[in-house]
Amino acid sequence: MVARARQLGGFDVWNRWGLFWLCSAVISTAMIIEMLGTDLSAPSGVSHMISYSVRWAVPFIYLVVAASALQTLFPGTFPRWLLRNRKYLGLSFAVAMGWQALFIYGMSTSFRDYYFEEIYYLRDELEGSTGYIFLVAMVLTSFRFGSKFLDARQWKMLHTTGIYFLWAYPFSVYWWNLNYYADPRPLDYLFYWSGFFAFALRIFAWGNRRRPEDEPPAALRLLGVGIIAAGVAVAATGLFWQDAVSTFLTAPRWSATLELWLPYWPFEPFLSLGVIGLGVWLYNLSLSR
Ligand code: HEM
Repeated sequence: MVARARQLGGFDVWNRWGLFWLCSAVISTAMIIEMLGTDLSAPSGVSHMISYSVRWAVPFIYLVVAASALQTLFPGTFPRWLLRNRKYLGLSFAVAMGWQALFIYGMSTSFRDYYFEEIYYLRDELEGSTGYIFLVAMVLTSFRFGSKFLDARQWKMLHTTGIYFLWAYPFSVYWWNLNYYADPRPLDYLFYWSGFFAFALRIFAWGNRRRPEDEPPAALRLLGVGIIAAGVAVAATGLFWQDAVSTFLTAPRWSATLELWLPYWPFEPFLSLGVIGLGVWLYNLSLSR
C-alpha cells in the first residue's frame, strides 16, 4: 500500500528516473515562477536568475559529495538511498546548472557590455568554464554511449575530480561571501557550512577506512583531536585571518600571477579542511605499519 502510494502511474518518484524527473520538475517550476516575477529585460534581472538557478543546484552537489561518506560512517536507510540514487541526484544538479547556463548565455549575448564590464573576470571565467566542461563530460559518461569511451579507472578519475571541482566552486563562493564581503546573508552561512560538513564527512570516512588494528598511542590521538578542533576553528574564523593569510600567500610574484588565472588559488577556503585532514590522519596513524 505504502509502496503503491509512493508510485505515480507505475513510476517510483522516490528512486532512480522517477526521482530525477520529480527533482527536475520542481527545479524547473521554481525557475519559471521566479522568471515570471523578474524583469529579464534588465541585466540585473538576468544576473538574479543566474544566482537563483545555482542555489537550486548547490544542495544536489553537496548530497552527492556526502553520499558515500555517510554510508561509511552512519550506514542506514537514508545513506543507502542517497548512494543508490547518487547518479540521479547528480543529473538533477546538472538540470539546475543547465538553467544557469541558459541565463549566462542570455546575459553574454543580450547584455554583452554589462557582461564584460560587470561580470567578466578571467579567473572566474576559467573556473566556471572548467566546471561546465566537467559537468558535460560527467553527464555524457553517465550513460552507456558516453562511458564506453572510458575504462573504469578513467571514469572514476573523471567523476571524482569533477565532483570535487564542482563542490569547490559554491563552497568557495560562500566562503568568500562570509569572509570578504560585508553583510553576509543567512544563505551564505547555510551553503558554506553544509558544503564544509559534506567534505568533512569524506575526510572522516577516509580516516575510518585507514583505522589501524593496533591502538595508536593516546598522545597521538589527542594531538589528532586537537588538530581537528583547530581545523574547525580555522573554518569558523576566516573573517579574522583571511586578509593577512591572503596577503602572505600571494606575496611572491609567481603566486600573485597564479591568482589571476588558476582556479581557487591560493586555496584559502580549503585550508581548514586541510588541517582537519592532517588531524584525522594523525588520529588514525599506525606506528606498526
Ligand atoms: C562560465 C561559467 C559561469 C559564469 C559566467 C558564471 C556567472 C555567475 C554570475 C554572473 C553569478 C551572479 C553573481 C551575482 O550575484 O552578481 C554567479 C553566481 C554563482 N555561481 Fe556562477 N557562473 C559560471 C559557472 C558556475 C559553476 C560551474 C558553478 C558551480 C556550481 C557556479 C556557481 C555559482 C554560485 C554558487 C553562485 C552564487 C549564487 C548565490 O548568489 O547564491 N557558477 N555565477
